Amino acid sequence: MHSNIRILSALGVITAAAVAGCASTDGSADLNAKADAFFKASFAPGPGQDLSRLEQDETQKACSQYRANPPEAVAKAIQAREAKNIVYPADGKLMGDWKAGAKVFNDGFAMRIGSFMPSNPNAVRGGNCYACHQGEAKEAAYGNLGPSLLHYGKLRGQSDAIVKYTYEKIYNAKAFNACSAMPRLGHKGVLNPKQVADLTAYLISPESPINR
Ligand code: HEC
Repeated sequence: MHSNIRILSALGVITAAAVAGCASTDGSADLNAKADAFFKASFAPGPGQDLSRLEQDETQKACSQYRANPPEAVAKAIQAREAKNIVYPADGKLMGDWKAGAKVFNDGFAMRIGSFMPSNPNAVRGGNCYACHQGEAKEAAYGNLGPSLLHYGKLRGQSDAIVKYTYEKIYNAKAFNACSAMPRLGHKGVLNPKQVADLTAYLISPESPINR
């Protein structure tokens, strides 16, 4: 079941990328508008459905315009803007509870559309990290769009700088890589600061199965 959800999520990413790709190859505004309308029409309005997510923000627009490869000055401006929206846990602790982080990492329950919509759209969400990353050695079902995170803490260490980078990267990947394919999980409200801190501990703590 879990691996089906992961495959579906990965397909969603690919479909969205393919539609975005078609929209800009031709370069004609008309074709762009048609592709946009087609894409939007495939999301039906309904209870809990948030169609505002179909509107690109400034960063997404720039990344579409430059096919995820913006000139350096544009990339720097995106990263500076995205870095400003990072929110930290109220208690200031960027290393949370790795056991709770393990659950968030493994949980494929993110934002849902159509028939996947949960009865409670505000239910706690997961990070769906396995859709794109290898994690614990024992887990065989994972995507490889992102780099392997197996032994992340063992390889990077536990310095304050690594803890801060890891928290911020999970909160908003585009603060470091302007047009990263990794969703801005904290910024977009998929995960809250406590969950991001728990994930940070899960990746870094020596006790975490990621580092075994
Ligand atoms: C849709 C795919 C996708 C999902 C889902 C995703 N990531 Fe990523 N992630 C990437 C990609 C691609 C990169 C490499 C490019 C970059 O750094 O922006 C990356 C990079 C990272 C890095 C930096 C690795 C390094 O060596 O510096 C961390 C840490 C990370 N992801 C953690 C997570 C965690 C934790 C989750 C779940 C909460 C997650 N990712 C979900 C695609 C994804």
